[in-house]
Amino acid sequence: MKSDSQILTKIFTPLVIITIVSAILLSLYITNQTKKNIISNSTVYALNTIKQYKMLRQYYTKYVIEKIPPSMNIDYIHKNLNNTLPLPATMLKDLSVLLGQDKNGTQINLYSSYPFPSSENRKLDDFSKRALIKFKDNKQKDIIEITTRNNKKVLRVATPDYMTQNTCVNCHNTREDSPKKDWKLGDIRGILEVIIPINKELELAQSLNIQIIILILFLVNMILLVLYFYFKKNILKPYKHLYDERKKFY
Ligand code: HEC
Repeated sequence: MKSDSQILTKIFTPLVIITIVSAILLSLYITNQTKKNIISNSTVYALNTIKQYKMLRQYYTKYVIEKIPPSMNIDYIHKNLNNTLPLPATMLKDLSVLLGQDKNGTQINLYSSYPFPSSENRKLDDFSKRALIKFKDNKQKDIIEITTRNNKKVLRVATPDYMTQNTCVNCHNTREDSPKKDWKLGDIRGILEVIIPINKELELAQSLNIQIIILILFLVNMILLVLYFYFKKNILKPYKHLYDERKKFY
């Protein structure tokens, strides 16, 4: 008869291998699922943020811009001028600068292929350039991407910015400095983008995943250990005894 250790190795080696392989597969699955969850939650948050900013600008255009008397100006240079209000886009751009002061917070971006003279020298990165090309045919829906920005993982969501009100169209078609003057209601004028840092969420999820895997490995190993001693004492020993006794008769 084989020795105790040979029998135990035969039984427990496959169990240990199955445990390790299952732990690896489980860890890959959990990592993948939590990453997916983080991305889908952040996407919902990003789309909501864009909706809120669009609503805010729509409100500002309708209830402020449309009501201002002719004695007031509307322009991108407004901060130190008593008789000048910010343009709807300028309000968003100013807010984007204020938000940008918090390097770990949400950021917004407004841009297009037809910048006014004030923004002609801006530099767009690869994501923004690609977004502009994709939105050119007026059909593309939102663009969602995970990229690295300033060494941090971020979620970028770009959505088309439509000419939703006659006030938008009228102003863009009549202002002297407008780069294009044949806009129609419903045209995509540009892109409104939200950038959400997801570094911290990914790191937290990663450390939680590691903790879960360690806990599972610990529990499974404890079960295997209990099984090992149980098998050795209650099955292998009596069986061996029986085997030896039986041998005496032959
Ligand atoms: C009173 C005039 C006026 C109104 C009303 C107006 N805009 Fe503008 N818009 C401008 C000017 C001027 C700029 C350039 C501002 C800047 O660069 O700071 C601009 C910039 C933009 C840009 C960014 C373009 C770029 O490449 O930087 C978008 C997109 C835009 N407007 C869409 C709209 C939409 C949509 C509405 C209506 C909800 C609207 N605008 C209402 C005058 C107006």
